[in-house]
Amino acid sequence: MKLDRVGFVGWRGMVGSVLMQRMMQENDFSRMGEAVFFTTSQTGQPGPDIGRDSGTLVDATDLDALGACDVIVTCQGGGYTSDVHPRLRAGGWNGYWIDAASTLRMSGDAVIILDPVNLPLIRDGLDRGRKDFIGPNCTVSLMMLALDGLLGENLVEWISVATYQAVSGAGARQMREFIRQMGMVHDRAATLVDNPDSSILDIDRQVLETLQSADLPVQEIGYPLTGNLLPWIDGDLDSGISREEWKGSVETNKILGRGGAPIPIESTCIRVGTMRCHSQALTLKLNRDLPLAEIEALVDGANDWVHVVPNQREASLSDLTPAKVTGTLDIPVGRIRKLNMGPGHVAAFTVGDQLLWGAAEPLRRMLCILSEYGVRGQGREEDSARTARVAAA
Ligand code: HSE
Repeated sequence: MKLDRVGFVGWRGMVGSVLMQRMMQENDFSRMGEAVFFTTSQTGQPGPDIGRDSGTLVDATDLDALGACDVIVTCQGGGYTSDVHPRLRAGGWNGYWIDAASTLRMSGDAVIILDPVNLPLIRDGLDRGRKDFIGPNCTVSLMMLALDGLLGENLVEWISVATYQAVSGAGARQMREFIRQMGMVHDRAATLVDNPDSSILDIDRQVLETLQSADLPVQEIGYPLTGNLLPWIDGDLDSGISREEWKGSVETNKILGRGGAPIPIESTCIRVGTMRCHSQALTLKLNRDLPLAEIEALVDGANDWVHVVPNQREASLSDLTPAKVTGTLDIPVGRIRKLNMGPGHVAAFTVGDQLLWGAAEPLRRMLCILSEYGVRGQGREEDSARTARVAAA
């Protein structure tokens, strides 16, 4: 498909900036005729440096300018989507809408995009004339890439997850505040920490005092995150689960095309003091009691980004951490072991960068899929094999 004019909204925010970096790295702008950059505040200013002409910034509420695009890619957030998308569609715009926000994900007309896992469903959506292609929730995409080998073989009976989610998932301002909190905690305890004769209990009391003090900056996060964790993410659905936990179940099953026979997925989603990698501790029930080596081989071979970290102390501590994975597209899966609960029960732990595979990467890959759609038949045989496996679920 020829992409004559592609519009970008929210490209300067955190997810949008990561998207721009990845698109530059992969030379994605060469796939399109014109790239139009929209803005909510700086209309008429020069566009970003993308290694080619990027024109001047266009008002992101200008429906005529938006409607002149074949594709709109937005990282502007759910408020923008709710405001602009229905009006554009009502006005007859029939272009492709690629969005990072959750607003449209569960709409019957939208396809959730995670192409290493559901390329057949994405192509099927294109064939059926679907126009809204929405990036998944970050914990969902990272978990699904990690479990791709087992999900793709229909081996998973149920999943229980505890997440350890980075502050970037809450937003850029929250990341800054988290660092300010760490700084204040250290500043106020520094004299005691630096005095080798001080009591560790006095240091601990000083840290707690800071965490509980009215001075600690909490305007963005709402609570202390440094020296703490927050066992609730996103809204309260008044059913005992958070909105983030609900997404883990419904989005995963939608991506798998399993609306009629969903895999039970239960999670407890927890915010922790890491910057941009989400980690997840998984308990799985497989419907076959496979040998450990076979489970590892399936996980390891599923896609180009996942790899198994041996379930050993040194390997886990060096290779299965946010500090190691941040800034990469790697999806390490480790701590894989069979559990005593009974046949088919397996534990695993995985880490992934929530701004890359968790947000920006599925969007830029959707642009690539669109640019190749109808041009090449590539990958169709492989797609059919996977579709057949999913359909047999
Ligand atoms: N909702 C996620 C989080 C990030 O709060 O970590 C976006 O998917």
